[in-house]
Amino acid sequence: MSSTTSVTMVPVRLSTVLDLPKPPGMHWRVQATRLVDYEVSVTRNLLSLNNSALAKAVGADGRRRTRCLVVIDSTVHDLYGERLREYFDAWRVEAHWEPVPGDEAAKSLEAAVAVTGAMNRMGILRRTEKVVAIGGGVVLDVAGLAASIYRRGVPYVRVPTTLVGQIDAGIGVKTGVNHGHHKNRLGTYCAPESALIDPEFLRTLPHRHVVNGLAEIIKMALIKDVALFELLESTVADITAEVLARHGSATGEVLFRAISGMLDELEPNLWEDDLERAVDYGHTFSPSLELRADPPLLHGEAVAVDMAICVALARNRGLLSTEDAERAIRLMRDAGLPTSHPVFTADLLDGALGDAIKHRDGLQRVPLTNGIGAAVFVNDLTPDDLAAALEFVAETQGERVPVS
Ligand SMILES: NC(=O)c1ccc[n+]([C@@H]2O[C@H](COP(=O)([O-])OP(=O)(O)OC[C@H]3O[C@@H](n4cnc5c(N)ncnc54)[C@H](O)[C@@H]3O)[C@@H](O)[C@H]2O)c1
Ligand SMILES: [Zn+2]
Repeated sequence: MSSTTSVTMVPVRLSTVLDLPKPPGMHWRVQATRLVDYEVSVTRNLLSLNNSALAKAVGADGRRRTRCLVVIDSTVHDLYGERLREYFDAWRVEAHWEPVPGDEAAKSLEAAVAVTGAMNRMGILRRTEKVVAIGGGVVLDVAGLAASIYRRGVPYVRVPTTLVGQIDAGIGVKTGVNHGHHKNRLGTYCAPESALIDPEFLRTLPHRHVVNGLAEIIKMALIKDVALFELLESTVADITAEVLARHGSATGEVLFRAISGMLDELEPNLWEDDLERAVDYGHTFSPSLELRADPPLLHGEAVAVDMAICVALARNRGLLSTEDAERAIRLMRDAGLPTSHPVFTADLLDGALGDAIKHRDGLQRVPLTNGIGAAVFVNDLTPDDLAAALEFVAETQGERVPVS
């Protein structure tokens, strides 16, 4: 009897399962929005004991004990570790230290996983205890990635200490590490709780890294800010680490325009739903070629070589006068940036464009200048265009075109 019952039960169940409504079947839609809300502040004397900005960012009030995990560029740790310790002691912050190497070669998934190990060892509380990332773009990207994947996301604060960090890597929402020969191939979008910028950190930055940051500032000038371009034309040759740290009126305006211009571009498109991004100017060919150069190019140096090619592409299409193209290339050289490199051959440029097309979902979407201070996007670059652009850049510096 019981077996008969079970036999009859099975078809009933099966028919319930099979008897789904006709297409489109059962249907749920889950929708939620989450506000992204973080502050970018430029503040003087971040490490002065009476400056509460960093303490507040980690949730400290100077009375009760507060813990945080400090993921810090090892060079910055050597230079500023003592002052940071004094600062945290004064604010009753129990800092757990995780020094991390700050060079491109160290920007790996393994490095990010190692940072999650530090979170584990500390037993970081998931919401109230912060990760504080202090360093250049490399450490900010690595620590940001680690914070965004640890327990699917713990809050973090950014303190950029390089020029690239202060005007670019430290103020957006992207994190990432290199993978294979590809720049930032693995990464996430994850906003920090805040970004605290103190130009004083730049005082110790090696000059090559100052120049490296100038490339990203020149990028902002070329795509959206002709006044910044003109300001740079008159100041760029004199910009040093010391001048940046002093934050006088001219460099103050350069930093202000670079940061606000970048945030204006990022804010309406934080998750890059729109793949036509003017801030990708100079980032079409460079991501594939930056890691191939030997000795390695810095990020901004590779961006500069890419920008010089884009200046030439625009000039050859009548989007930029020859005079403005020469001004743009001169500005990069006055800044101390390279505008050509043997690894940027016509063949390799074409291969790099192929990878950019994948990154940009099937179209070239190459930003070019439309006059100095404005951008347009093109989708029809040919290998001949690339070769002609290289030729123009070489002519402006009296060089021979690199052969593939
Ligand atoms: N996430 C983003 O949106 C974004 C944007 C732009 C760039 N990036 C990434 O940023 C990285 C480049 O960043 P970077 O140029 O800051 O390089 P970096 O982080 O390698 O720092 C450059 C060098 O300066 C040292 N350093 C850092 N601060 C210092 C200081 N105050 N004094 C002396 N030395 C100091 C570092 O140890 C390192 O040797 C690239 O990997 C790039 O992909 C990310
Ligand atoms: Zn960049």
